[in-house]
Amino acid sequence: MFIIDNLVEEHGSVRRIELICDYIVKNINTVSPHIILRVTKLIRNFIQNHHEKSEEKTIFSKLIDNMPKIIIPLTIQHQYGKRLITNVLQTPDNRRIVTSSLSQFTKIYNAHGTYEDTIVYPAFREAVKGQEDKYQEEDDDEKSVVDAIIANEEELGISIEKYTPE
Ligand SMILES: [Fe+2]
Ligand SMILES: [Fe+2]
Repeated sequence: MFIIDNLVEEHGSVRRIELICDYIVKNINTVSPHIILRVTKLIRNFIQNHHEKSEEKTIFSKLIDNMPKIIIPLTIQHQYGKRLITNVLQTPDNRRIVTSSLSQFTKIYNAHGTYEDTIVYPAFREAVKGQEDKYQEEDDDEKSVVDAIIANEEELGISIEKYTPE
């Protein structure tokens, strides 16, 4: 699969994980540290060690010379996000740290992902037009990420109905 198509697909899961983070922040007094730890590990493994790694290695490195004003802040945000998630991994039972770290994380990523979708990914598509076959990624196991998201949502009692205004 062309790398951008894969990354776009992954952004769906990233956004859905952010919704779980919002829920945790709003319900910090009732969510157990073990779920907080499990969600945070998913962020570290899927978003940071997989999705962002692939963005930095292939997309950001290609565009940095022509678009430093956008690629530099996005790279800094990846690094900042890693520090926030490390805080939560180290102290999943500290409500103050979890609330502050996860709310900053979702704030960053709401903006971060939309700039990637609307500016960076289209610029990469344009830059490699005609050479897409050089930028293929093996189809990864997106279903297992979605299954992990669903398992966490079910344990937290989150469902699509929750997002309809009453
Ligand atoms: Fe990113
Ligand atoms: Fe991304």
